Formats: sequence, structure tokens, C-alpha cells
Amino acid sequence: MSNTPKTDALMARGADFLGSEHAILCGAMSWVSERNLVSAISNAGGFGVIACGAMTPDLLDTEIAETKKRTDKPFGVNLITMHPDLFDLIAVCEKHAVTHVVLAGGIPPKGSVEAIKGGKNPAKVICFAPTLALARKLLRSGADALVIEGMEAGGHIGPVSTSVLAQEILPELSEEHLVFVAGGIGRGSAIAGYLEMGACGVQLGTRFACAKESIAHENFKKAFFRASARDAVASVQVDARLPVIPVRALKNKGTEEFTAKQREIAGSLDREEIAMAEAQLQVEHYWAGALRRAVIDGDVENGSLMAGQSVGMVKEEEPVADIIAKLMAQSEEALTQRR
Ligand SMILES: Cc1cc2nc3c(=O)[nH]c(=O)nc-3n(C[C@H](O)[C@H](O)[C@H](O)COP(=O)(O)O)c2cc1C
Repeated sequence: MSNTPKTDALMARGADFLGSEHAILCGAMSWVSERNLVSAISNAGGFGVIACGAMTPDLLDTEIAETKKRTDKPFGVNLITMHPDLFDLIAVCEKHAVTHVVLAGGIPPKGSVEAIKGGKNPAKVICFAPTLALARKLLRSGADALVIEGMEAGGHIGPVSTSVLAQEILPELSEEHLVFVAGGIGRGSAIAGYLEMGACGVQLGTRFACAKESIAHENFKKAFFRASARDAVASVQVDARLPVIPVRALKNKGTEEFTAKQREIAGSLDREEIAMAEAQLQVEHYWAGALRRAVIDGDVENGSLMAGQSVGMVKEEEPVADIIAKLMAQSEEALTQRR
């Protein structure tokens, strides 16, 4: 008998779709969501997702094989839609009969959803929906489930909060479709709320980034434990000519210098010392390799400490199984108090 029957009932559709005990995904986090964390999440009854990021097909091949050695539970692979080798990466997933592919970073290119769902080992496709109109389009294009992610989240973010996205999208789609909610979830009471609104499950990143099984550097974890919600800020664009893709990360020397760097590049543009394309490229390249520097090398001054606003609820290194058990118990408590 489960200790969390009310939560289980509301998560049933999502858990059935994922093939996991609980409909709790650990969202892919580049450098963090690798074989150890992903297998730990799936072994603990959640659903782990490998972050492919900029990996080559060969590296992804190894990562999937190594993850499979550590768990016999289902897990997913997150592919970035603008990866130049997207179709080769899809082929690697198919080779390993990966059950779920998450497409992130934009509208899936033509043929990609079909490639994932066709072939010898068809996988289910999960896409990110930033608006209701795009959600409908993605479902028409073959997405099997959607994630709606608000701007409270860590990493690359859209402009709208989770609570507003949930109110706009869940009443329209959640009866007939599978919608997972992400962004800003740190406690099970929030999970209960989104489940009651019609979500079939949730996705968390920040809450899992510093789990015991996460390979993130000790310095990275300590920065999370020290931080509060207001330290996790969205990157700022200084000049209209120099687009900045918003990323939520902990404030540090790197984020301060990024603002100064943009001003410097804008000045060079004004003085016609560099061309527009070169200026935009310089801004785009500022953070290249920065997440790796923070997560793997522990450079918390200059690296990118991607974190969501829920970082204030991450206080210590806990095993994944404990985090999931706590989230489930908190959700159950919230649902029990209401009924
Ligand atoms: C350190 C870090 C790295 C991330 N990297 C990726 C990524 O590579 N691909 C992706 O789709 N999402 C990425 N995300 C977003 C997570 O998958 C997840 O959706 C998000 O963290 C959920 O919001 P939360 O942080 O409020 O829990 C990242 C998040 C963090 C904190």
C-alpha cells in the first residue's frame, strides 16, 4: 500500500506515460544530468533525463550505455533542437531503444518528431510549450506530452511565470493531453497545486542539482546552499542591438562582468570599431563553456551557476530518494489537508 494515494492518483496518467513510479521528472541539466544523477533519479522512482547539450553522437552513445548499466528503469534523453547533428543523436537514441526523447531549445525541425517516433524503436516525444498556441501546434505535430516551464526556472527561460502558464494552458489542454509543469517547484505542496489544476506530473531541476548523487563540484553545491531566491537572477540585456538569451543563474563576478562586457561591445559598435555580426557573436560567446566551469571545475566566480528561484529551498546535500520521498509526502499532506 502506498503512503501517498492521493498524489499517486493525480499522477497516474503521467507515471503511466513515463513508466515510472512517480510522475516527477528531473529536468535535463547540462553537465549535471549525466549517468549518475539520471540513474539515481530513475532508481528512486522518478524519471531521469540525460542532458545531451553539445555532446557528439559518440559521447551520447557512451552516456546512454553507462546509464543503462546503472538502472533498468526508464529514462529519457534531452536533445537541443539546434544541435547540428540532431538526426544522428536521434539515431543513437533509437539504437539504444531510449523510450522518451525530450526536444528542447525551440520548435523541432521538420522530420525530427517523425524520426523519433518512426524507426525500429519508436520513442515518445516530449516538447516544451511556451504559449497555448504553440502547445496546440506541437501536439498537432506529434508531441506525446508537453512541459510548460515558467521563468522561475534555472537555465534558459521564457518571459512568463509558471503560475500564469499553468492557468492559461492547463484548463485548455490537460483533460485530453499530458502536460507536466516546471519552474520554481521546491516543495510538494506546489506539486499538489499543479496536479489539482490538471497537470499530469512535474519537472524539477534546481531541487535535484545538488543531490548526493550529483557530480556537481563541491563549490557549486555550496553556492546553492548559501543562496536565496533573490540571488537567482535572469541575465540582463544592456543594448537593443545585442540580443541576450535570458538565463537564470546565481549572481556572481561573471554576471557582473557580463553587463560591463556588453557595454564595452556596444561602445565599440558606436565607434564603428567592429561590425554588428561580430559584436553579436562576442555577446553570444561570452558564456561559452561557463556552465562546465562552474559545475565541473568549481569556478563559482566566473562560471555560470544556473539555478532557479527555488534554490533557497535547497539547503543540504540529500540523496535523490530522500528528496523524492519528501516531495511526495509534502504533496500528500497538502492534498489531505484540503479534503
Ligand atoms: C544547472 C541547470 C542546467 C540546465 N540545463 C538544461 C539543459 O541543458 N536543457 C534543458 O532543456 N533544460 C535545462 N535546465 C532546465 C531544467 O531541465 C528544468 O526544466 C528546470 O531546472 C526546472 O525548473 P527549476 O529549476 O525551477 O526546478 C537546466 C537547469 C539548471 C538548474
